[in-house]
This record gives sequence, structure tokens and C-alpha cells, in this order.
Amino acid sequence: MATNVLVAFYSRNGSTEALAKAFAEGAQSAGAETRLRRARDIVGADVIAGVPGWKENAGRMDAAYGAPTTADIEWADAVAFGTPTRFGNVSAELKAFIDSLGGLWFQGKINGKAGAAIVSTQTLHGGNETTLLTLYAPLAHLGFIIVPAGYVDPALFKAGTPYGASTVSGQNQPPTADDVAVAKVHGARVAKVAAALKAARG
Ligand SMILES: Cc1cc2nc3c(=O)[nH]c(=O)nc-3n(C[C@H](O)[C@H](O)[C@H](O)COP(=O)(O)O)c2cc1C
Repeated sequence: MATNVLVAFYSRNGSTEALAKAFAEGAQSAGAETRLRRARDIVGADVIAGVPGWKENAGRMDAAYGAPTTADIEWADAVAFGTPTRFGNVSAELKAFIDSLGGLWFQGKINGKAGAAIVSTQTLHGGNETTLLTLYAPLAHLGFIIVPAGYVDPALFKAGTPYGASTVSGQNQPPTADDVAVAKVHGARVAKVAAALKAARG
């Protein structure tokens, strides 16, 4: 049976989305089936309307990706959580989805799944590591076995972080080829660990 990898992300400008897609491609290269889901906006329409492109981007992504659900988490053997940083922290939109998982947590249904974090920041030192490490906390509470990117491939010496794949969007630049390479390495690694954990569960 295939290993199932869910990539649940939030993105407003598309860079986290692109990183999530690369992560999913890496997981597929390791034999996994993947689902990409975009957490829905929770700020007011006035905020979204305040920046050119946000409304259009949201419409495009919501048409392309369903919202993540608890059923997606139950389906998944591994979950990667992707977020743009918000003041060095996880976006409220992704956190709202994480906070909807209390029921599954209470039933122990997340215990033992592989979990990972990926991030997009605008600036090089704008909080990519703090955001990734902050995501580790709810992953630990929920019972995920956290799978970092590690320095497991030469790609990690060019981009990304050992905590998880990352990209620096600057003025809405897409992930670089080096960022994409790290996301693929991380996705493949998570899929392999998830497959091993699944086999061990029997
Ligand atoms: C409210 C808010 C807070 C932000 N805080 C930070 C920050 O602390 N550091 C940073 O580098 N970028 C920050 N950003 C920028 C986004 O995280 C960055 O542009 C990211 O790459 C967007 O990802 P996306 O293209 O997936 O939406 C912030 C953006 C918003 C709207």
C-alpha cells in the first residue's frame, strides 16, 4: 500500500505554495501518494483587498486546492505543514487548521505519523528558523514524529535549513532552483520515514 503524504499549507503570494508543490514532488519520487491542501483565509476581506493580487491569488489557489480537513490528516501517513512567516511565527491561517485537530489528538489518531515543517519568509533573517521551530511545538504535542530536512544531501549546503525546507521570497520571487531541490530532498525523506513507520506499525 502506498504511503500517503499530505502537504497542508497557507500561502498568500504563492511562494509557500511553490515550495509545497516541490515537497510533494519529492515525496512522489519516493513512491508516496500526495495531497496538497490550502488553509483558508481568516483575515477580513478588507485586509485581503488592501494588497494588490491577494484576492486574485486566493481565488486561484482555493480553486486549485481544497481546504485541509481532519479526514486528510486521518488519510495521511505523513503531514508537512507549510506557512509564510508572520512576524517570525506561524500564520494564523495554518495555525487555525492545526487548532482544529484536537479531536484527532484526543483519540490518539495522529500519534506516530511523520510530521514536517516548511516555510517562506520575505527576508533572509526574517524568521525562517523561528517559524519552523515554533511549528515543531504543536507537532510534538500532537504526537507527530518530527522529520527535519537535516544536512542529508549536498542541496542543504546551498539552501534551506536543517529544520525544514525554506525559501526567501523578497519581492514575491518564486523559490530558487536550490530551494526547490531542498524541498524535494525533504519531501522524499519524509515519505521514506513515513513508509518505515507505517511498516513498523504493521
Ligand atoms: C502580517 C505579515 C507579517 C509578516 N512578517 C514577516 C516576518 O516577520 N519576516 C519576513 O521575512 N516576512 C514577513 N512577512 C512576509 C511574508 O512572510 C513573506 O512575503 C512570505 O514569503 C509570503 O509567502 P507566500 O508567498 O506563500 O504568501 C509578513 C507578511 C505579513 C502579511
